[in-house]
Amino acid sequence: MSLKQSVNILNTKTGINCIAQRASSWWSGVQMGPPDAILGVTEAFKKDTNPNKINLGVGAYRDDNGKPYVLPCVRKAEEQLKAKNLDKEYSPISGTPEFCKRSIELALSENSDVIANGLNATVQGISGTGSLRVGAAFLNGFFPGNKVVYLPTPSWGNHTPIFKHAGLDVKSYKYYDPKTCGLDFKGAMDDISKIPERSIILLHACAHNPTGVDPNKEQWAELSNLVKKKNLYVFFDMAYQGFATGSVDNDAFAVRQFIKDGHRICLAQSYAKNMGLYGERAGAFTVVGETKEEADRVMSQIKILIRALYSNPPINGARIVTEILSDPKLKSDWLQEVKGMADRIISVRTKLRDNLKKEGSSRNWQHITDQIGMFCFTGMTPDQVEKLVKEHSVYLTKDGRISMAGVTSKNVEYLARAMHEVTK
Ligand SMILES: Cc1ncc(COP(=O)(O)O)c(C=O)c1O
Repeated sequence: MSLKQSVNILNTKTGINCIAQRASSWWSGVQMGPPDAILGVTEAFKKDTNPNKINLGVGAYRDDNGKPYVLPCVRKAEEQLKAKNLDKEYSPISGTPEFCKRSIELALSENSDVIANGLNATVQGISGTGSLRVGAAFLNGFFPGNKVVYLPTPSWGNHTPIFKHAGLDVKSYKYYDPKTCGLDFKGAMDDISKIPERSIILLHACAHNPTGVDPNKEQWAELSNLVKKKNLYVFFDMAYQGFATGSVDNDAFAVRQFIKDGHRICLAQSYAKNMGLYGERAGAFTVVGETKEEADRVMSQIKILIRALYSNPPINGARIVTEILSDPKLKSDWLQEVKGMADRIISVRTKLRDNLKKEGSSRNWQHITDQIGMFCFTGMTPDQVEKLVKEHSVYLTKDGRISMAGVTSKNVEYLARAMHEVTK
């Protein structure tokens, strides 16, 4: 029977709505997409009934009891905001000027010449991801060089889709050395020296995700020189300011060094990790221009893009950030609290390494304490990861990355034993 005949039968029997559905569906050609790699780990973890199970997949901070942590300064800021009885009017397209000013001051420092001379076009973004996406849209529309973004290998899994979705091409440069579980500095310098001039290079400002491997200060200075010589345009992604070393100024070293060396960078910032504002979606995107007049023109175009993408940003998280950064007492509380999170992570790195040694592991686990920030690239193979999941209920991504934030003084021995079992 032809489709037309069956449609006619349906027409007489069941009425018009049903025919429309049966004759053709708008979405019959849509194939099932793969689940998100990281959220998939959490789903599997939830189903596991082992009381010792550990989730090391998710990139969100946990306290030493494995519980989500709301920073006390955030709670105080919320109370102060409540007392102000603020309205719920729309934010300006670019976020409030106060939020943008405080954000760029946090990145570049309060006495930055760039800010004093009005060279920065800064907008609020929807956390780090939204800030990167707005940046990508701006580069796709206006970047005058090669519209290709070079990412480190490996990079955060969402970088490629974000840039491709905006229409840019994505290529890579060497970054991580699996043999040493450290930085492949020579490989990075060699690859970067081969990138065509006037291309875009993405740099993780600190606490590289997923490897936890950052260049040291001298290496940053060398990278800055090379990138300058090659006339590359730098896109800094700073999702972990304060989270790496516990100091927001230390962690902004690379960004400030590049600015000092005369690079006109762009920058995505996130308050998800350093203020624990994951679901509030507060972040910022900045383009540093050559002159104030240029920054103003850039700003006008970014606003036009945002207007079409989501009109204007959410207000709540940005208000919390502004309250914390503009109130000296809250700001100093925050600086302590972010250091507290970083210090806990640094201390469980040492505990994990010590416990692996105690278990009798003869492998070199030095990289666990050398790496920095939320993640540790353990160097475990996909087979070892599978065993860890199946035999020990320790959940992590296939690349062997563990979120150190999920390690606590209570589960670190169990984790070390399990890691030793699968790697011996
Ligand atoms: C390197 C990097 N950039 C950006 C982000 C964006 O995070 P969010 O959109 O939650 O601020 C993340 C989060 O994991 C990240 O690791």
